[in-house]
Amino acid sequence: MTDSQRKILVTSALPYANGSIHLGHLLEHIQTDIWTRFQRMRGHQCYSVCADDAHGTPVMLKAQELGITPEEMVAQTRAEHHQDLLEFGVSYDNYYVTHSEENRELCELIYNRLDEAGYIVKRTISQLFDPEKQMFLPDRFVQGTCPKCGAEDQNGDSCDVCSATYSPVEMKNPRSVVSGATPVLKDSEHYFFDLPQFSDMLQEWMNSGAIQTEMANKLQEWFEDGLQQWDISRDAPYFGFEIPGAPGKYFYVWVDAPVGYMASFKNFCDNNDVSFDDYWGKDSTAELYHFIGKDITYFHSLFWPAMLEGAGFRKPTGVNVHGFITVNGAKMSKSKGTFIKGRTYLEHLNPEYLRYYYASKLNDSVTDIDLSFDDFVLKVNSDLVGKVVNIASRCASFITKRFDGKLSANVIEPELVAEFQNASEGIAQAFEKRQYNKAIREIMALADKANQFIDANAPWVSIKDDSKQQFTHEVCSLGINLFRILSVYLKPVLPELTKGAEEFFNDELSWDSAQSVLSDHAINKFKPLMQRVDMDKVNAVVEASKEDLKISNDKAAKDPDSELAKDPIGETIEFADFAKVDLRVALIAKAEHVEGAEKLLRLELDLGGETKQVFAGIKSAYAPEDLQGKLTLMVANLAPRKMRFGISEGMVLAAGPGGKDLWVMEPHTGAKPGMKVK
Ligand code: MSP
Ligand code: ZN
Repeated sequence: MTDSQRKILVTSALPYANGSIHLGHLLEHIQTDIWTRFQRMRGHQCYSVCADDAHGTPVMLKAQELGITPEEMVAQTRAEHHQDLLEFGVSYDNYYVTHSEENRELCELIYNRLDEAGYIVKRTISQLFDPEKQMFLPDRFVQGTCPKCGAEDQNGDSCDVCSATYSPVEMKNPRSVVSGATPVLKDSEHYFFDLPQFSDMLQEWMNSGAIQTEMANKLQEWFEDGLQQWDISRDAPYFGFEIPGAPGKYFYVWVDAPVGYMASFKNFCDNNDVSFDDYWGKDSTAELYHFIGKDITYFHSLFWPAMLEGAGFRKPTGVNVHGFITVNGAKMSKSKGTFIKGRTYLEHLNPEYLRYYYASKLNDSVTDIDLSFDDFVLKVNSDLVGKVVNIASRCASFITKRFDGKLSANVIEPELVAEFQNASEGIAQAFEKRQYNKAIREIMALADKANQFIDANAPWVSIKDDSKQQFTHEVCSLGINLFRILSVYLKPVLPELTKGAEEFFNDELSWDSAQSVLSDHAINKFKPLMQRVDMDKVNAVVEASKEDLKISNDKAAKDPDSELAKDPIGETIEFADFAKVDLRVALIAKAEHVEGAEKLLRLELDLGGETKQVFAGIKSAYAPEDLQGKLTLMVANLAPRKMRFGISEGMVLAAGPGGKDLWVMEPHTGAKPGMKVK
């Protein structure tokens, strides 16, 4: 049964360019990728695009902190994000960035059309403004005392202690997180998108099955309260696109981010001779799906379809919302080492373990998904290694050694093959509906049957009996064919493992391959397709994640802010506390790069006889050869700390806001290595 070829475009939410890809992002990218690969295997035209979300205040401030331009920072993170995703087997047709010409043009086009159609209104509002930094402050950049319960140091929009939500204007003793200054109220003209005009259209769209019922019900509350006009402008300084005809006003990042889906696809179309309008034009018959996390549903199911409709483009066929990932039953935590970056995972573990584990848990609901390490190790080892790969390893060597590397001409148990083949549509439907957990359950039930068949016929016994050679050949050949059908069903989830299997079979697998049996067919020598996962490796990921945190804390302690001059002097300490610090003159005997470290240099410091190793976060400012042979100052009695790359036995003193602007302290000439600083 093949339905006619569908044209499909899918997207994952665009990761922000000011942080690394972590296990939460990966849940989404893997979910999208499995669906995409499944559609392609079924013979459909399925494109997938993503990009980095480049704009907004946090990106702008982070770049300032690093002492680079936002463009430079974004180019670097885009490349890192893309590389991380590729190594997890995520196969986008294009991974672009929202800070692009295509996106600027599309944003202007959409805005101009909305404006001409009367969907843009202007109004002056009053907001908190940082008088030192000369910028308006988004809610999360204001802190102060909760207006309800009086708790100090609360964020500008809500209180962690009493859970009250409020406007930052209501806070007592507000201060700017950026400069520490007391914000003042300031007026500014803002541009609004008139969302209420789309209320009926949106209700209809939402209830047409474009979004899961549980989400539609939740969104219903917003309609009952009445939709609000949406503030789409931000004042300079802002990293983003200027609004046409409004100098100094920029599109709020959430305006150009979803347009970034279109822009990434546009860039792909231009380079590949694909028609953009076939997918985005008002009369497009292609399907369009956005995979997103539940936290950003509001943007994708209200603002975005309304913008598209208002500007004369098609609306999404579906917004597929998933829940959040928790680790060992709790929110990902930096201090517990469960806030795990994709890169840290890749340094220790096979990415396909995670793809499989996520697939075994993912479904079409928005409930959160728990990654339990015990369950992870158990599932990978017992399902993938113990069941699936084991089928092939139990049969392959006999075929190679005793039967000339060729599968038998006859199929010994056709009913069993038929059972495997008949499961195809059920499994396909489960993938189609994003019930991957159901698909995996069915595939594993088949794997159990294949193993039972091999156990019952014990080819390792019959191989010793010369009169049973044909029987043994047929049993092993069937085992391999059953493994092949399972490989078809697992291919969307495990592209690398199935690539190995395809080499073994001499055969490329599409979804329909499950309906055929290889007979009288030469296979290649079997190579182990997957190793067992070791709990020690998982623990190593957790340890490394704790160390990532230490490194970034050290950095934050050294350059909490871009503007050193405004850094307030910290709390006072007693002389006795100061006297505990053993500051010494040290000779940088050796300085070198650390493989795999983004920020660290390894230094060997000579203290006049004694040598200490220090990992210093100064790579952004110094090349090793700039430092070698120089004198510096170090804290010599800091307790040694185990870092990802080795033990660090002290700290060198440096000053500056960070990035390129960081200066290692140098004593006056005349100082000798080992001298104590007084
Ligand atoms: N930049 C916006 C999206 C713009 S789309 C036009 C954004 N970026 S994000 O980096 O914060 O999140 C990207 C995606 O990752 C979102 O769909 C978000 O829900 C998802 N996740 C981030 N943390 C997550 C978990 N812990 N678990 C599962 N998904 C999570 O939002
Ligand atoms: Zn409170």
